[in-house]
Amino acid sequence: MGEPLLKIDNLESYYGPIMAIRGVSLEVNEGQIVTVLGANGAGKTTLMKTICGVMDPEKGTVKLNGQEIQGQDPDFSVRHGIVQVPEGREIFPLMSVEDNLRMGAFTRKDRSNIAADIEMVYGYFPILKERAQQDAGTLSGGQQQMLAIGRGLMAKPKIMLLDEPSLGLSPLLTKEIFAIVKRLNKEQKVTMLVVEQNAKIALDTAHYGYVMELGRIVMGGPAEKLRESKDIQEFYLGQRSEGERAQRRWKNRKTWR
Ligand SMILES: Nc1ncnc2c1ncn2[C@@H]1O[C@H](COP(=O)(O)OP(=O)(O)OP(=O)(O)O)[C@@H](O)[C@H]1O
Ligand SMILES: [Mg+2]
Repeated sequence: MGEPLLKIDNLESYYGPIMAIRGVSLEVNEGQIVTVLGANGAGKTTLMKTICGVMDPEKGTVKLNGQEIQGQDPDFSVRHGIVQVPEGREIFPLMSVEDNLRMGAFTRKDRSNIAADIEMVYGYFPILKERAQQDAGTLSGGQQQMLAIGRGLMAKPKIMLLDEPSLGLSPLLTKEIFAIVKRLNKEQKVTMLVVEQNAKIALDTAHYGYVMELGRIVMGGPAEKLRESKDIQEFYLGQRSEGERAQRRWKNRKTWR
């Protein structure tokens, strides 16, 4: 086994005095889909931003193929093969669908292949081809998520960071998006790091997973192992009603400090 494609060690990130990432370490091997599960405010988005250079960490390292890249700017990350598909998509609403895709290729030198890659994206998302000349702001939430992924692909990433792709989507659309993530991983050889609150679909898709709570990784393992974990079933896979879960949390509570 060679070096992991992405390796994070003891990462710490702050918003002013607030420590949002508290010593996170994780690895993503080339060719894998890795998911980071976590509830609201766990630090998932902050982790993504720190990996791709939107935020600088206070401590720790982010290595891509063994090379330290923490503290570099986002353009550097994109040029070196790390592309983020941000939470909330952040497409350009007043630009056409196709121009949004073109924007994704802004760091590329091989301009001649861009047209072919736009067609490749349309192959995965035929609806985007139908809407190619429409303003991106007129797309539905699911279509905007497709466009955000498509735009990310246009940079020819080695690794794609997906921040809650299921956010605001119906279960059916969520399934569709994750099926395409799986195909892109296989067919286009894009390694994937997906942060999600939807543990079921994420663990059904991923090879490996981590669980994040309050800025820390509290669990990690192969996806099928995590699916069997009692804690995950209880807190993330909705095996119990919310009332039962609350009662159980109360019964198992640690003594107050
Ligand atoms: N701009 C900010 N300024 C100050 N604190 C922030 C800021 N953004 C996030 N935080 C805090 O940092 C912590 C982690 O937030 P983050 O957005 O990374 O969580 P998340 O896991 O992505 O949550 P969600 O599922 O809601 O997207 C939270 O406590 C949050 O309140
Ligand atoms: Mg978030």
